[in-house]
Amino acid sequence: MRFDVITLFPSMFSAIRDEGVVARGINKSLLSVHTWQLREFSENKHRNIDDKPYGGGAGMVMQVKPIRDCIEKIKQKIPDTRVIYLSPQGQKLTHQLAVDISNFNAVTLLCGRYEGVDERIIKHDVDMEVSIGDYVISGGELAAMVLIDSVSRQISGVLGNKESLNDSFCDGLLDYPHYTRPEEIDGQKVPEVLLSGHQANIDNWRKDKALKNTQIKRKDILKNQ
Ligand code: ADE
Repeated sequence: MRFDVITLFPSMFSAIRDEGVVARGINKSLLSVHTWQLREFSENKHRNIDDKPYGGGAGMVMQVKPIRDCIEKIKQKIPDTRVIYLSPQGQKLTHQLAVDISNFNAVTLLCGRYEGVDERIIKHDVDMEVSIGDYVISGGELAAMVLIDSVSRQISGVLGNKESLNDSFCDGLLDYPHYTRPEEIDGQKVPEVLLSGHQANIDNWRKDKALKNTQIKRKDILKNQ
């Protein structure tokens, strides 16, 4: 899968390109992350890509032309790329949405800064608006990285054998509790069943704990099922 990112801060993406699950996916040639410096599509000598909002008010708005030109350039290379704009006004990123996006061949992630992009971009150039949660962060870059990470994990072969996809949300529940050595620390013991070697009992215990965990921590998930 190919990710193209339109951003004013391309170097931020080294955080996921150089280390961790996304980096490994890149090394295995299962995915690629390409950044596009939006300022290179500016048509003025100061390399500005924003201007004052019509109607007045604080902040600046990212202009149509540089963004549209950049998207067009990407589409010349990858005509079937889906354009996603990261914004707090978007559809909430969930496990299911990450799975759905992982089935696309390519996505272009548009990262806003300042007051965001001119509405005409959202209306005419963007296929999907995605939010990582009901709060505002200072730009789309961190949101794009969250999306790339969560989507990359769903691409077959990206996770190693040891990191299964058996995570929270994969079956609509939170994860079960995990323990490792030592068996006892400061009087706190690992549940007996996990030491029993009886796999069916362990599986049942885990299922039960996942359900209880979800009931206690995230009742809303159960209600949505
Ligand atoms: N940009 C600013 N806040 C955001 C959010 N919550 N999700 C996605 N992009 C954003």
